[in-house]
Amino acid sequence: MHDQDSSDLDELIALMHQLQGLDLGLYKRGTVARRVTTRLQRLGYSTYREYLTHLISAPDESRALLQHVTIKVSHFFRTAGLFTLLGEKLLPNLLAHTRDSEGPRLWSAGCANGEEAYSLAILLEQMCAERGGEVPAATIWATDVDQAALDRAAHGLYPRDAFVETPLELLERYFVPRAGRLTPQYELLPTVRERVTFSQHNLLSGSPPWNGHQPGLILCRNVLIYLVRAAQMRLYRLLLETLAPGGYLCLGESEQLPDELQPQFHTVDRHYRIYRKL
Ligand SMILES: C[S@@+](CC[C@H](N)C(=O)[O-])C[C@H]1O[C@@H](n2cnc3c(N)ncnc32)[C@H](O)[C@@H]1O
Repeated sequence: MHDQDSSDLDELIALMHQLQGLDLGLYKRGTVARRVTTRLQRLGYSTYREYLTHLISAPDESRALLQHVTIKVSHFFRTAGLFTLLGEKLLPNLLAHTRDSEGPRLWSAGCANGEEAYSLAILLEQMCAERGGEVPAATIWATDVDQAALDRAAHGLYPRDAFVETPLELLERYFVPRAGRLTPQYELLPTVRERVTFSQHNLLSGSPPWNGHQPGLILCRNVLIYLVRAAQMRLYRLLLETLAPGGYLCLGESEQLPDELQPQFHTVDRHYRIYRKL
């Protein structure tokens, strides 16, 4: 990158911090540069400088850029083997050991369009169906920095490719097909949607928006990979502080607990990156 481009990108990052409260300087620079470039080219610009002028004058552009830079790739039951372990071991364990009448608290941190949090909700419904009893009490929180993704999550409407790892019987049981503009969409049953509370939260700005309740399970997957090392460490520390003692932390397949934090956790499953707080 030329010096001029590099300093224009710095200016753009500072402006985004000011307008959207998200410090893109904490994300890997190559990814940020690529995403900004595809956005500006889509709008017909060819340099960061031209795009900066647009960003300053167009009120909605900073929100659009935030949506574009924070990558939303996700699907239901992503890494199916992890969800099998959650259903067979982790959730039964949490349910058995939580005395609170509201049940264990589960947090999908960086939830994109809700696929991960809703997969947990479906898993709980399944556990109940299989046990022939009531749906176990549990609180599911889901947070993301991108409000537009949370709005989509609240609608609970998904294209067919959101179900590449979803067993057909679950798709048929918990979703209703709806005619879409081009292809069919699938709408999650409202009874399952209601189990998840969505809120906007920037994982790099501090504690999540609930008071004092520590989740027994945190899924923070495919978020840390986009961050520079200092920001990763900051987020790992937040996750450590937030998680209840004995609680589970699940990371993405390309994410690994740093050596400094290994003494605070027991590794439950190396392959699926599941760690238990000591
Ligand atoms: C690739 S998606 C991962 C979704 C889901 N966890 C999964 O593994 O399928 C990454 C998500 O992290 C969110 N994200 C990125 N930076 C964030 C931040 N600082 N605070 C909260 N969410 C963030 C993005 O908006 C995006 O929805």
